[in-house]
Amino acid sequence: MIRKSLLIFFASLGLACQNRELCRERLDFTAEWKFALNSDSDFSAPEADDSNWRKLHLPHDWSIEGEFDKDTPASPGGGALPGGIGWYRKSFVIPDSDRGKRIFIDFDGIYQKSTVWLNGHMLGYRPNGYVSFRYDLTPYLNYGAESNILAVKVNNSEQPNSRWYSGSGIYRNVWLVKTNDVHIDNWGTFVTSPEISTEKAVVAVCTTICNENPECQEVRLRTTVIDANGKKVVCKSDDAEIVSGGKCVVGQMLDVVKPRLWSVKDPYLYKVISEVMADDKVIDRYETPLGIRSLHFDAEKGFFLNEESLKILGVCLHHDLGCLGTAVNKRALERQLEILKAMGCNAVRTSHNPPAPELLDLCDRMGILVQDETFDMWRKRKSRYDYSHDFPEWHERDLTDHILRDRNHPSVFMWSIGNEVHEQFNRTNTDTLTLQQANVLLNIRHDSPAGREDTTVNINSWITAHLARIVRNLDTTRVITSGNNFAASENNLFRSDEMDVYGFNYNLGAYRDFPENFPGKCFIASETTSAFATRGHYIMPSDKRYAWPETWDQQFDRPVHACSSYDNNCALWGSTHEETWRAVKQLSYCSGLFVWTGFDYLGEPTPFWWPSRSSYFGIVDLAGFPKDAYYMYQSEWTDRTMLHLFPHWNWPEGEPVDVWAYYNNADEVELFLNGKSLGSKKKESGQFHVWWRVPFTPGTIKAVSRKNGRDVLIREIHTAGPAAAIRLTADRNAIEADGKDLSFITVEIIDKNGNLVPDADDLIRFDVQGCCFIAGVDNGSQTSTEPFKASQRKAFYGKALIVLQNNGKRGKATLTATSEGLNSATLTVRAR
Ligand code: GAL
Repeated sequence: MIRKSLLIFFASLGLACQNRELCRERLDFTAEWKFALNSDSDFSAPEADDSNWRKLHLPHDWSIEGEFDKDTPASPGGGALPGGIGWYRKSFVIPDSDRGKRIFIDFDGIYQKSTVWLNGHMLGYRPNGYVSFRYDLTPYLNYGAESNILAVKVNNSEQPNSRWYSGSGIYRNVWLVKTNDVHIDNWGTFVTSPEISTEKAVVAVCTTICNENPECQEVRLRTTVIDANGKKVVCKSDDAEIVSGGKCVVGQMLDVVKPRLWSVKDPYLYKVISEVMADDKVIDRYETPLGIRSLHFDAEKGFFLNEESLKILGVCLHHDLGCLGTAVNKRALERQLEILKAMGCNAVRTSHNPPAPELLDLCDRMGILVQDETFDMWRKRKSRYDYSHDFPEWHERDLTDHILRDRNHPSVFMWSIGNEVHEQFNRTNTDTLTLQQANVLLNIRHDSPAGREDTTVNINSWITAHLARIVRNLDTTRVITSGNNFAASENNLFRSDEMDVYGFNYNLGAYRDFPENFPGKCFIASETTSAFATRGHYIMPSDKRYAWPETWDQQFDRPVHACSSYDNNCALWGSTHEETWRAVKQLSYCSGLFVWTGFDYLGEPTPFWWPSRSSYFGIVDLAGFPKDAYYMYQSEWTDRTMLHLFPHWNWPEGEPVDVWAYYNNADEVELFLNGKSLGSKKKESGQFHVWWRVPFTPGTIKAVSRKNGRDVLIREIHTAGPAAAIRLTADRNAIEADGKDLSFITVEIIDKNGNLVPDADDLIRFDVQGCCFIAGVDNGSQTSTEPFKASQRKAFYGKALIVLQNNGKRGKATLTATSEGLNSATLTVRAR
C-alpha cells in the first residue's frame, strides 16, 4: 500500500507523468557553450568574465584547430598538435516547473583531467580522458529566470601523456537528464540472455531503482520487451519497496518465444522498456538495447556466435576521426564502419580505451563485434605524464564505470583489461611484495582477505586478478582478455590464470606452438600486422621484402617520406597483411585477429621522421580512402565479386612496373597492355594476389578475371594526361538538417578524359554557400602540415577530401572547388 505522503508526491507528478517524455528527459546539452584556452586564470566562479570568449557547439577538440609543430610537448607521437588548458562555460536556465526533479549532467568523455563547477560549487574531478561520468546538479541549481553557470576546466597541459593523438576538450557529447526523485539509476539496467534456443530465449533484466525522496517508496517495475517494429513481445511487472536514500535491484526473467538472434549478418535488435510506476502512473521510463545472442570461445575451434563458428575478422581503431580530430560525430563514425564492413571486417577493437557510446550503438545496429578495451597502461607508465599516475586511485572507478556503461551492448563480445601493459614483465625485483604492500600501492581495500597480509604476491599478476575480479563482479557473460606482446607463459598476466582468452599482439611465430605452450587455452591474435603504406605511392620492385635491420627504412622514399603501397613492408615487430592473414586463416584454434589498424590515425608516425605526424598503419588512409591492401581483405573476407588492379599507369617509358591484382570468385586473371595479352595468372597456394612485371608503355593496362573460361570482371587503368579539371563526388548528397550531419566529398584531379591524375598535388580552394560549413579538409598524406580546419587543400596522389557539416538549417549548400589552370567543379548537398 502506498502511503499518503507518497500519494501527494505522486499526485503532484501525476499529470506530467502521463506524458512519457516527462517521466525522464534526456536533452542534448551540446549547443551554445563558450570556450577559451587559458591556463592562468580561474573561471570557476559564476561571475568570471567570459564575455569575449569564443562561442561554439560541442563536441569540440581544440588540438585539431592548432598548428603542427614538431617541438610541441605532445611530440609527433601525439600528433604534433597543441595541448594546454581549456575552459568551457555554459549559461542555462531551468524552468520553475522542474523544481522537485533530479537534474544530472552526463559527460560522455572529456580529454582530460576535467573539473566541473555549477554556480561556483565544484561537482567533481575526473582525470581519465575516455570514461563517461555523471554529476548531480540538483543541489546547486537556480530555477526560473535566474541563470546557472556551468564551468569546466580541461587540463591537457602535461605532455606527453598519450602514445597517439588524444585530442583535447569536451570532445564527446553532453546530456542533461531530468528524472523524478524515484528513478532508474545511471546505467541502471543489466540485460542478458542466459538461455537461448530456437523455441525461446530467457531474457534476464536487473534494474536498479534509486529513491532520493525523504520517504520510503513502493513502486512497481514494468519491464517490456519490444521487437524492432515496436511491437510488444513480453511484459512483466514486479513490486518493490525502496528505503529513502536507498537503491533496490529488481531481477526479472522474461521469455521471448522464437527469438530472432542478433548476429553480424542480421543484427536484429529488440528493446527493453523499463517503467517505474507508482499508483498506476509511470514515473520513469528507460530504454535498453537487447540483442539476443550467445558467445562462446573454444580452445580448439575458436569463436562461436550463436553456436556457429565465426572467425573474428577485426581491426584496431583509435578514436580520432581524421581531419575532424576527436570531436565525436556519429556520421563520421558510421562512415568509418561502413567502409570497414564493405571490406568484410566483422569486429573492431577499441584500442586502447573506452570508445564513444555512439560507436557501440552503431556496432549494435550494423552487426560489428567489439572488443571493448579499458587501459593502455596500469601502474607502469608508457609516457611521462600518462594515466599510470592516476591508476592507483582511479582504476577501480574507471573500470567499473566502463563495464557498467557498456555491458548492455550486444556488439560487445569481450573485455580487454589492458594493452601491452608493462606489468607483463618482471623488470625489477620490487615486483614481489606482501599482499599488504601490494594493496597499499594499488589503493585496494576489499581485496585483502584478513590474515593473508604477509603472503607475498607478484604485484603484476595480483593487479591482473584484481582487475579481472572487478569485471566479473559486473559481468560474467563475456570473456576477459588482454593484448600481450610478451607471448610466453612467464607473462604475469597469463600467470595470474585470470585470462579467459589469451591475446597475442604480433609474435606471429608463436601462433603455431600455442596449443602446445598453452594447453586448453583459448587464443586470439589481439593485435597484428603493423604494415606501412601511403596511398598511391609505389616503390619498385614489389617482390622485395623490406625487413629489419638492413632495409627497413628503404621502404620509405625520402624526402617525401611516403611508403610503398605494395604489401611488402611492416614494422620490426609486425608482418605484412598477407603474411598475417595466411597464418591466422589456417589455424582453427585462432579465434581471429585485429589488424593494426583499420584507419590511419593521428600520431605515432612510426618511424618518427618529421614531418610525419600520423601513422602509416591503416588499411584505409586518414581521409577514408582505401589503400590497396583493403582489397586483399575484401577478396578474402567477403563473398563480393571483386577485382582490384594497381598501380596507376603513369611511369617513365621502359621502366619495369609491377602490376598486382586482388580478386575473388574467379579462377584466374589475364592482363593486357594496349590490347596485348601478358598472360593469365592464378593465385598460388597461400598467396592472395597475382602479379606481372611489365615494362611501361603508355596506354591502357587491363585485367580480366575469369571463371570457367567466362569473363567475370574487367578493370582498366589509362595513362592520364595533364591535369585538366576537378571532380567532386559526395558520399551522400542529402543529409539531415540537424546541425551535425556530414557529407564527405571526394575531390579528384582528372585529365580531360576523366582519368585520375595519379601524382597531382594541385592546391584546391573551396567555397561553400548555403546550409553547410566546412568541418575539415584532408588528403590522406601522413606528412602534410597544412591545417585541417581550412578552406583549401593540396591534392595528394590526385585526391583530397572535404567534409561539409550542416549548420542546423534546411535547404541546399553549394560547394565550388577551384584550382589554378583547372576547370572548377560544383556540387550541391541538400539538408532536410
Ligand atoms: C603495438 C601497440 C599499438 C601500436 C602498435 C604500432 O605494440 O599495442 O598501440 O603502438 O604497436 O605498431
